[in-house]
Amino acid sequence: MKIAIAADHGGYELKETLKAYIEDLGHDVVDFGTNSKESVDYPDFAKKLSESVAKGNENLGVLICGTGIGMSISANKVRGIRAACVSESFGARMARQHNNANVICLGARVIGDEVAKMIVDEFLSNEFLGERHSRRVDKIMEIEKESYNG
Ligand code: RB5
Repeated sequence: MKIAIAADHGGYELKETLKAYIEDLGHDVVDFGTNSKESVDYPDFAKKLSESVAKGNENLGVLICGTGIGMSISANKVRGIRAACVSESFGARMARQHNNANVICLGARVIGDEVAKMIVDEFLSNEFLGERHSRRVDKIMEIEKESYNG
């Protein structure tokens, strides 16, 4: 698969670790920055990655900031994005299987590297289960449609 990744300064180091890890799993990684620990604003990176994933340029996205929260709030403002902020692997699996999340958000100041890798494994290796979950995800997308006036 083609996987998008981005971080702010708080997530930069974990981004580098996960980028190598995802490549080792056999995926192509598209890196939207940031590329140093210099302070930046997380919405800029969430926007770039999310617009690209929403267009279908990549299959899934991984966003990292200090908590994962700012990235998830920002990503969920982009039409077509269902971003889940996750701190453990069960949540990552459910985010794919039940919520059809297309972006996962991690907090580099919340979890360690090994937990982050387990989360990414679950996120990339599970599929949306459809059926009753489709009805619910469709309702999420209806909320988005109505709140953007069409
Ligand atoms: C940056 O200091 C920090 O606020 C950011 O990485 C993130 O945690 C925001 O949600």
